[in-house]
Amino acid sequence: MKPKTIIEPFRIRMTEPLPVTSPEHRAERLRGAHYNPFLLRSRDITIDLLTDSGTGAMSAAQWAAMMTGDETYAGSESYYQLQQVVSELAGHKYVIPTHQGRSSEHILFSAMDVAGKHVLANSHFDTTRANVEYLKGEAIDLVIEEARNPASLHPFKGNMDLGRLQSHLEREGERVALVLMTVTNNAGGGQPASLENLRAVAELAHRHGKPFMLDAARFAENAWFIHEREPGQQDRSPREIAQEMFRLADGFTMSAKKDGLVNIGGLLCLNDDALAETARALLILTEGYPTYGGLAGRDLAALAVGLQEVTDPAYLEYRIASVRYLHTLLDKLGMPLMHPAGGHAVYIDAGKLYPQIKPWEFPGVALCNELYLEGGVRAVEIGTLMFGKPDPDGGHDRTAPMELVRLAFPRRTYTQSHVDWLGEVMADVFERRGRAAGYRVRKQGEILRAFTAQLEPLT
Ligand code: F0G
Repeated sequence: MKPKTIIEPFRIRMTEPLPVTSPEHRAERLRGAHYNPFLLRSRDITIDLLTDSGTGAMSAAQWAAMMTGDETYAGSESYYQLQQVVSELAGHKYVIPTHQGRSSEHILFSAMDVAGKHVLANSHFDTTRANVEYLKGEAIDLVIEEARNPASLHPFKGNMDLGRLQSHLEREGERVALVLMTVTNNAGGGQPASLENLRAVAELAHRHGKPFMLDAARFAENAWFIHEREPGQQDRSPREIAQEMFRLADGFTMSAKKDGLVNIGGLLCLNDDALAETARALLILTEGYPTYGGLAGRDLAALAVGLQEVTDPAYLEYRIASVRYLHTLLDKLGMPLMHPAGGHAVYIDAGKLYPQIKPWEFPGVALCNELYLEGGVRAVEIGTLMFGKPDPDGGHDRTAPMELVRLAFPRRTYTQSHVDWLGEVMADVFERRGRAAGYRVRKQGEILRAFTAQLEPLT
């Protein structure tokens, strides 16, 4: 017999209590957080879908590895274990640990000196874009047209638009510092890129003498989608596919807090000798010695195990199925969604849900706050608060391409009944959609404003 139900391929033997709060308590806490869910405390949140970054559960094998982590400053055995695992997976000459993804990005873009240059990506995620811009480079997104249409069922909406990439390289090639593919494409709905597209992007970049890099935060989920959807890939394991993805690239940055299955950590892997030397010098300046890169030895040890567990087909099948389960549930309610379901998250088209709220009045923020008030659920806006910019002349904010709300799933953390409960909260929020109103920013920072902005309701 082959059961149709896809189960969690693990047992749970350690638990954390789940805070359940009253509507009055939540209204007060949201006011105190200036209507920005980033400013809430975890004890006031029932289901936290803010991010899948560093919020998952580690396995017993990972915890066991932590106990034998080697805390030697230079030459730690845990580093060499990690290096071996990463080399087998990705094959790059230099394996540089960092404390998380954005630090890898900052070091890479500094070492490549992107000032005055273009970084071409399918889509840059917010920290990636912010690091390019902070270093005076220009982050340019060249994702395929279908990616901007939430209803499109294209199986690889994370693909790069090859025509636009080619013409950009031909037109302004001398200004291009590197070509980057984010897998899966977080800013565009957790959508995968196909192997065919990755091969073509690598080929185009190399033909123009440009390095091709991956932002590999969710490489295993991307590999699973290729295994499921791309013609001719069904007989290859996610691990084999991931190995090919990595080998197409001259290097990669990785936030290990996602598909590394750890709570903290990152990687920067490179082939180029001179670039790696500069990167390591910068690493010593801000992160630490190259065999620990800002992490404890035990963190390196847990990551070495996580990078092996994450390509297990049973885990990936469960992971993708659990996100799809919520997607199907919300679709049945009539919620406007980004289709198809993403790898790590479900994205709601808040602009469409709330046509009465203008993009510069943050429909995504309105939805996040409704979700919190209704059920103590925390989600994150991926729209104009995150990607828009204040107008220098004091007009409306420059708006983002889409007004999305992301429900990101921590790995191995919530069960099906949590999702069913979430579906009930969603149904109530959907019913009340005509009454939602927008927000105005009261206070904001210049860099990555979504994390700290203070808002107030417009009604
Ligand atoms: N690249 C991608 C595609 C990401 O999604 C993130 C983080 C980073 C880089 C930066 O990594 O957080 O380890 O410094 N994304 C998180 C999120 C924060 O919620 O999607 P980091």
